[in-house]
Amino acid sequence: MSAIDLAVIGGTGIYRLAELNQAQARHIDTPWGAPSGPLRVGRLGQASVAFLARHGEGHALPPHRVNYRANLHALKQAGVRRVLALNTVGGITQAYGPRVLACPDQLIDYTWGRESTFWDGEGEPLHVDFGHPYTPALRDRVLAAARAAQVPVVDGGCYGATQGPRLETNAEIARMRRDGCDLVGMTGMPEAGLARELDLEYACLAIVANWAAGCTDAGEITLAEVLENVAAASSGLPGLIAHLAAG
Ligand code: HPA
Repeated sequence: MSAIDLAVIGGTGIYRLAELNQAQARHIDTPWGAPSGPLRVGRLGQASVAFLARHGEGHALPPHRVNYRANLHALKQAGVRRVLALNTVGGITQAYGPRVLACPDQLIDYTWGRESTFWDGEGEPLHVDFGHPYTPALRDRVLAAARAAQVPVVDGGCYGATQGPRLETNAEIARMRRDGCDLVGMTGMPEAGLARELDLEYACLAIVANWAAGCTDAGEITLAEVLENVAAASSGLPGLIAHLAAG
């Protein structure tokens, strides 16, 4: 069995990586319970790529019910070292409008009540460094892969992780803007922190599906709008992922 070059965690609207060749499902159990679904491991060009649907392949799991610990641990058990997280988000600041792809370099965690550490045991607490929550070297590779695949990606930005599953109020988004957030999503944490605890390289590719609450007067945010924009923004992803996995 060849080593896995890259794992991709798919978010809302991305439940399969259809381009994976000879994909095989691996059902992995972990000390933290079952992951959201099978790991689909296949080939993308010369590289071995694993795909996991964060919300389950039928999107049965809302953001606060995802077993992030099991998902990350399953990847670690499978021998993964590099993770590209695809996260569907709302855009807050000017450069992050619908259908933009962005590779954030910072995050603020507004989630609560989620299992957010593997360190539930006794002994020395594990205070991992998290000043740069996304692995800088992997971010650089994501940006290089995007250039090679000719997929425009905004370099940087701050991801604000909210609890959901409801969308935010206008005032919450206004506060997040004041805090320095450019993007808002519900799944960025605790995933990034858990990846760091497991010493996995981890970067986020955020797919902007809508303007966040109060950032446009275009009316209510609908799931149809979200899915349509994710589909439109995702057409370049297989090429980008293939370059990243091969690089
Ligand atoms: N807020 C939070 N999460 C999201 C949004 C949003 O506006 N759009 C897609 N995921």
